Amino acid sequence: MQKLLKSLGPVCAVIGAQWGDEGKGKVIDLLSEHYGVIARACGGANAGHTIVVGGQKHIFHLLPSGALHPHATVVIGSGLVLHLPTLLEEIRTLQAAGIDVLPRLYISTEAHIVFEFHKQIDIALEKQRQEREGKGIGTTKRGIGPAYMDKAARSGTRMECLKGDLRPILTAHAERVQRLYDVAVDVDAELKSLSSAQQLLSGHIVDTVTLLYEHLIQKKNVLIEGAQASLLDLDHGTYPYVTSSQTTSAGALQGLGLPPRALTSCIGVAKAYCTRVGEGDFATEVRGEQGDRLRERGGEYGSTTGRPRRCGWLSIPDLKRAAMINGFTHWNITKLDVLDEEEEIPVCAGIGADGKPEWKNLPGWRTSTVGVTEFSKLPQEAQEYIRFIEKETGVPATLIGTGPGREQMTIQ
Ligand code: GDP
Ligand code: IMO
Ligand code: MG
Repeated sequence: MQKLLKSLGPVCAVIGAQWGDEGKGKVIDLLSEHYGVIARACGGANAGHTIVVGGQKHIFHLLPSGALHPHATVVIGSGLVLHLPTLLEEIRTLQAAGIDVLPRLYISTEAHIVFEFHKQIDIALEKQRQEREGKGIGTTKRGIGPAYMDKAARSGTRMECLKGDLRPILTAHAERVQRLYDVAVDVDAELKSLSSAQQLLSGHIVDTVTLLYEHLIQKKNVLIEGAQASLLDLDHGTYPYVTSSQTTSAGALQGLGLPPRALTSCIGVAKAYCTRVGEGDFATEVRGEQGDRLRERGGEYGSTTGRPRRCGWLSIPDLKRAAMINGFTHWNITKLDVLDEEEEIPVCAGIGADGKPEWKNLPGWRTSTVGVTEFSKLPQEAQEYIRFIEKETGVPATLIGTGPGREQMTIQ
C-alpha cells in the first residue's frame, strides 16, 4: 500500500472506464483511510456506489464512499445535482450505524438542487421518447437530466438558496415548468420535503473551492470520487445514451474547481468484463445463457434502480479510449473472480472495417481467485489476462479486485 500511495501522490481521481458500476466505491473506500479529504465531483443520485465491510453492505448515492472513515473530511462539490431527501437519508443511515458524517461534511454553495419536479420531468421526457422514438434512454428517473438542463439554461437553483426563502423560487419554477413541460409543481409539497434539509444542512453549505485550495496548501491529500463513467460522459460517451454530466477526470476537476495541474494520478476502474444499464450500443454484449451466467455470478443488478444489468465481454478499444481521455496512471481491474469458471474468455481486441468486434479468446483459469491478495498467487492464466490488458492499454493494472469485500484486492 505504501508503494501505491507514493505513486498516487497527493491528489488522485478515481474514474469509471466503462458504463458505470465498475466498483469505484470499493476502491475509494479502500484508499480513504490514507486521505484527509474525500470529494465527490459530479453527477447525482443516479450513482450507486457499493461498499462491503465486514460482510455489511453500504450503498452511497450522494455522499462520497469514503464517508465510513471517521477521520475524513467529506466534500460534495459544485458539479453535483443534489436530491436533498436522498442525502439526508444517507446521513441518517450512517448515523444509525454509529457514523456521524455531518460535522465533517461540506457542500458546495454552487451545487444544484434536484427538486421533485425534476424527477417528474425526467419521467415525462422518457415517456415521450418511448412514444415518439420507440425507446427511451433508460434513465434512472432521478431527475438528473432535467436538473442539468435547468443548470445549463441558467434556470437552476443552487445550494446557497437553501439558506433563504425557497417559496418565491419554487413559485417561479412552477409557472415555468407548467408552461414548458406541462408538469404541475406542488410548491407546498416541495417546500415540505426540503424543510429538514434546510434545518440540518444550511450550516454545511460553504465555498468548497476555497476549502479544497486551503487543504492543498496545508498539504492534506485529496481523493476525488468520480461518478458514472467515461462511456456515459455527455461529450465523449455513447451519445445520446449518456448521462447529463461530465464524467471524466477533466469533468471531476471542473466539478470541484481544482486546476488540472493539481491532479497527480488517475485510477481507471474497469470490470474484467463489461456491463451496462439502460439503452444504447454495447458491441460486446452477450445475451442468453452466457450473459445470464455473468449477471448471476457478478450480482449484476443496479445499485440504484435494481434493474438487471446487460452483460458482455471486455472491450480493449473502449479501455484504450477511456485511458486516452482521462490520462489513467493506474488500472483497478475489478471482479476478476466473476470469470473464475469460464473456460475461455473472449475479449474484443479491436474493431474491424465492418464496425464489428475482432475477438481474441484468452484461456480461462477455472480456479477460485476469491479473496486473493497477492498478484503472484493468482492462477497463471489470470495473470496473463491482466498482463494482456496492461500491454494493450499501456497502463499498469496496480489493483485487482477479487471479491466485493474491502480486503479482497491485490495491490502491486
Ligand atoms: P460503482 O458504481 O462503480 O461504485 O459500482 P457498484 O457499487 O454500482 O457495483 C459494483 C458491484 O460489484 C458492487 O456490488 C460491489 O460490491 C461489487 N464488487 C466490487 N468489486 C468487486 C470484485 O472485485 N469482485 C466482486 N465479486 N464484486 C465486486
Ligand atoms: P455509478 O456512479 C450505471 C446510466 C443510466 C442511463 C443513463 C442516463 O453507480 O457508476 P441518468 O439517470 O443519468 O439520466 O441516466 O446513464 N447511469 C448509470 N449507469 N452506473 C451509474 O452510476 C449510472 N448513472 C447513470 O442507467 O443509461
Ligand atoms: Mg454503481
